[in-house]
Amino acid sequence: MADIVLGVGGGIAAYKIAEVLRRLTESGHSVTVVPTRSALRFVGEPTWAALSGRPVHTEVFDEVHEVPHVRIGRQADLVLVAPATADLMARAAAGLADDLLTSTLLTTRGPVVYVPAMHTEMWEHPATVANVETLRKRGALVVEPAVGRLTGADTGKGRLPEPADIHAYVTDVLSRGGAGPDLTGRHVVVSAGGTREHLDPVRFLGNRSSGRQGYALARAAAARGARVTLVAANVSLPDPAGVDLVRVGSAAQLFDAMVAAAADADAVVMAAAVADFRPVTYTDTKIKKSADGSSPVIELERTADILAHLSANRPSPAQVVVGFAAETGDATGSVLDHGRAKLAAKGCDLLVVNEVGADRGFESEDNAAVVLGADGSSVTVGTGPKSALAHVVWDLVRDRL
Ligand code: CTP
Repeated sequence: MADIVLGVGGGIAAYKIAEVLRRLTESGHSVTVVPTRSALRFVGEPTWAALSGRPVHTEVFDEVHEVPHVRIGRQADLVLVAPATADLMARAAAGLADDLLTSTLLTTRGPVVYVPAMHTEMWEHPATVANVETLRKRGALVVEPAVGRLTGADTGKGRLPEPADIHAYVTDVLSRGGAGPDLTGRHVVVSAGGTREHLDPVRFLGNRSSGRQGYALARAAAARGARVTLVAANVSLPDPAGVDLVRVGSAAQLFDAMVAAAADADAVVMAAAVADFRPVTYTDTKIKKSADGSSPVIELERTADILAHLSANRPSPAQVVVGFAAETGDATGSVLDHGRAKLAAKGCDLLVVNEVGADRGFESEDNAAVVLGADGSSVTVGTGPKSALAHVVWDLVRDRL
């Protein structure tokens, strides 16, 4: 379990951070809360002290004999700054040390995660843009704000991600030990979920993919500093923090969204389960049972192979393309034989091969796989959480970038 410093900035979103604190302590972490002076105008010291079970200080002049800014910063496995206001990030970017939090930011050597929340105008102001860039260049993780309702009547980019998503993000960063954000400056695109091909307004051909592996990949890439576009086909999981989410339904929509997002991507991962066939005709009204008791015949046609298309039409030869394959062994070959053949047929750089059966793969939290490389390499990943497999995939992608 980790020693976390939770730096709270002076924004209205501070009230949501009490929930983040609660989730972190319930996961077993020791959390020292360091609010700014203005944060305490939104949520008072007793709330932070009660939820963390620790004393709360704002100034370096409290308990000076302990030199708290040095001690707290050095001990921290991770510093989480949330909400990160425009003012707080400006002070951090300038290297100011005018309170306990900014002083701590200068003494810590562990990962620092900023979760900004502010009005869209402030987020987009060139001063804030430059400060965020400075912090990222120095190795900090600055989570992209969510789009949605802001304080008051306005909506836009600048919303704090949900507490559960912030907690998941921090968990992912901690799972990497002290490893720095090695995908900063990279744009990665991940597809997730399963497509639906509609027959009529109420029926579709679908599949069992939950989207968990794709979401784990998106979350892991964000925790490593990448700009992430997540193209989700019919997924009902919480939105990962700091990720651009594009929702699609059918294989054709997924194709268009992936081609558009891949245009400036450094890496593309096709984790979605794509329908291979779709009904030739879509009926505008619900298909009724016929009076003579006969069954309808539904004619299907092939959909485009998105992975093969992306592999063959890379905007730059340096782009890394990754596919997934759910396989079962059969009389014609083993799971890995089929995997090797599929890697060659798709033309991608890496293929993550899962053995699937009735009780493996789809809805489960865990996954085991072999990652095959076009260079002949193969990496076995034992049964474990989907986030662990995700990080292995990004290690292999990073090595190829
Ligand atoms: N895929 C794709 N477009 C399709 C079908 C599959 O991009 N129309 C991608 C999947 O996202 C996955 C990989 O191809 O990354 C392999 O998917 P899989 O269903 O195992 O392969 P298929 O080509 O459908 O082969 P099979 O005949 O074994 O079903």
